[in-house]
Amino acid sequence: AQTEKDLLYKIHEVANTYFQEILWDDQEGRSIGLSYFKERELRDDIIKKFQLGYSPEQKNAFTAYALEKGYSKEILEKSGLSIFPENTPAGVDRFRERVIFPIHSFSGRVLGFGARILKSNVKTAKYLNSPETEIYHKSNVLYGLNQSKQAISRKNGCLLVEGYMDVISLHMSGIENVVASSGTSLTTEQIKLIKRLTENVTILFDGDNAGIKASFRSIDMLLTEGMNIRVLLFPDGDDPDSFARKHPQEYVEKYIENEAMDFIDFKAEVLLRDVGNDPIKKAEAIRDIVKSVSFVQNALKREVYLKEVSNKFGLSEQSLFNELDVQKQITQ
Ligand code: UTP
Ligand code: MN
Ligand code: MN
Ligand code: MN
Ligand code: MN
Repeated sequence: AQTEKDLLYKIHEVANTYFQEILWDDQEGRSIGLSYFKERELRDDIIKKFQLGYSPEQKNAFTAYALEKGYSKEILEKSGLSIFPENTPAGVDRFRERVIFPIHSFSGRVLGFGARILKSNVKTAKYLNSPETEIYHKSNVLYGLNQSKQAISRKNGCLLVEGYMDVISLHMSGIENVVASSGTSLTTEQIKLIKRLTENVTILFDGDNAGIKASFRSIDMLLTEGMNIRVLLFPDGDDPDSFARKHPQEYVEKYIENEAMDFIDFKAEVLLRDVGNDPIKKAEAIRDIVKSVSFVQNALKREVYLKEVSNKFGLSEQSLFNELDVQKQITQ
């Protein structure tokens, strides 16, 4: 028998095909959606590889299409694709006048969608995403994993970026071992998905304050799961998408290779940026770094990292060990 979950998978497949058909074959889809992707310099093969689409302006375009195909209001509502307000029996599409990014499971089933607004001056969220449903749990999904899993295994390393467009642009320039946490802060479940393929992660977050904050959280999460990490901050204003479009593949690869730092150097650079000679602020920065070290699960690795901190700041290992003990008691 067909379960509710089966139906939810099915309707996402139907919607995914629909949004792509609109993008490629419909007048509005081509002139607005496809033009948008062209403006962002995406090639046709990449638009198809990521199954990008477009949702029309008409209030219930998809809902009407799906009802016509025999899907019930109930299942449409549960999928998160339609909303049926009290006095609007025809229903309303969740995604309207947006370009569509389908979100796939590890094995390639469509679980949900991200949808980007086209104009940047409108006062509504830039990206609208599917709500949590019976098949979509955003904390268990990494965007791009299905398209990137082979390259991640082959290279024994995974690049972690913030957004949909970062994954897509890197793929377009030939760098295919990349996934995005898509705006949510990285979860243990997401890290475990990566860990099936590799233990090596390079964090490539936006060079703005939000990116730095997110990278700090991700570092501690990844260390807790026993991952090896390197971190790279793009120049302020750049993200992997804009950077990959400015430079050829080889340059981007070299840049990542040469500029990515271990987490201690990275945190030191960021935290000491505007500390000057203030000893109290400097001590706070060091405590913050030691706190990250306290998340390292392997005792030997932990000691090696602590030695690095000791050398870097000219502090005795003993005082750092004492601090580490304090931090471990706090975080345990
Ligand atoms: P960014 O704001 O960095 O977006 O958010 P971006 O990917 O660089 O977007 P472009 O280049 O302007 O298209 C990073 C990610 O956070 C999630 C999305 O997954 C986005 O790709 N996000 C962002 C949301 O879910 N909602 C938002 O309103 C904004
Ligand atoms: Mn479930
Ligand atoms: Mn950002
Ligand atoms: Mn960004
Ligand atoms: Mn961007």
